[in-house]
Amino acid sequence: MASFSLIRSSCLLVVIMASSLMLAFAGNFYQDFDLTWGDGRAQILNNGELLTLSLDKASGSGFNSKNEYLFGKIDMQLKLVSGNSAGTVTAYYLRSEESLWDEIDFEFLGNLSGDPYIVHTNIFSQGKGNREQQFYLWFDPTADFHTYSILWNPQRIILSVDGTPIREFKNLESIGVPFPKNQSMKIHSSLWNADDWATRGGLVKTDWTKAPFTASYRNFNASACVWSSGASSCSSTSPSTSGSNAWLSEQMDSTGQERLQWVQKNYMIYNYCTDTKRFPQGLPPECTATNTS
Ligand SMILES: *[C@@H]1O[C@H](CO)[C@@H](O)[C@H](O)[C@H]1NC(C)=O
Ligand SMILES: *[C@@H]1O[C@H](CO)[C@@H](O)[C@H](O)[C@H]1NC(C)=O
Ligand SMILES: *[C@@H]1O[C@H](CO)[C@@H](O)[C@H](O)[C@H]1NC(C)=O
Repeated sequence: MASFSLIRSSCLLVVIMASSLMLAFAGNFYQDFDLTWGDGRAQILNNGELLTLSLDKASGSGFNSKNEYLFGKIDMQLKLVSGNSAGTVTAYYLRSEESLWDEIDFEFLGNLSGDPYIVHTNIFSQGKGNREQQFYLWFDPTADFHTYSILWNPQRIILSVDGTPIREFKNLESIGVPFPKNQSMKIHSSLWNADDWATRGGLVKTDWTKAPFTASYRNFNASACVWSSGASSCSSTSPSTSGSNAWLSEQMDSTGQERLQWVQKNYMIYNYCTDTKRFPQGLPPECTATNTS
């Protein structure tokens, strides 16, 4: 049994060891998730292949993963609230439990019919966030399911939509930026009313005559290290050989870089890294370092 601290002390060793024990699973919602709130407004359907959240005036709803993960490549397909979704927020994120928590966020801010959703993203490490980036999407996220992915390995976090990277947060501990890597996280999702801020900064309110609002989830797929009783599934020596571990050291290839630039140029609507008014003392260190890889 290797101790988990190997992950921190030697990525190479972890990669070698992990080759035989990665957990890869294409999900069944009954097996992988708990419905955590909403009193029946969250539902698992079709023998575990579909999950829906709903929101009405009385309550929203939510779920989280049974497992805690420490690193993973996690895909989920979402179909967002359609029609007039103004005021609603669908959040899909990883989060640890500690008071100085780590968190990796997708939040989808609804809008009036025909007006664009905003994809709001943030990364917290040791309780500190303030790293918002926001995007429009290049498709209607309510017309069909699309894949939202989180790659989280010891070197980087990459958020992708249908395989197109929209954001990368590199491990820059070398220049003093804390990186989420010593706390396990669960996958969470919820649908709730946030009409005090979500749509046009709170100007457009939720139209309750359109309730209930519904978001749907399918095809959960994770290649991940499961954290349980203080140990990682990626640091035990299991004889089973399954799956590929490439994600543990995956980085963006040149195609990914080009697509990221395309998204940032055409669809990014807010970037904390360019908000000099907000940071009069100087931009956060990762903002001026991101081009040095
Ligand atoms: C691990 O995370 C905690 C916050 O939850 C932090 O106080 C601590 O410094 C971290 N340790 C390392 C080695 O990064
Ligand atoms: C909603 O649509 C308006 C008008 O196009 C746009 O300014 C805004 O960014 C959109 N999204 C949200 C969440 O307000
Ligand atoms: C699950 O994701 C892995 C990569 O992370 C991929 O190789 C595999 O094809 C996916 N499986 C399904 C059922 O989508």
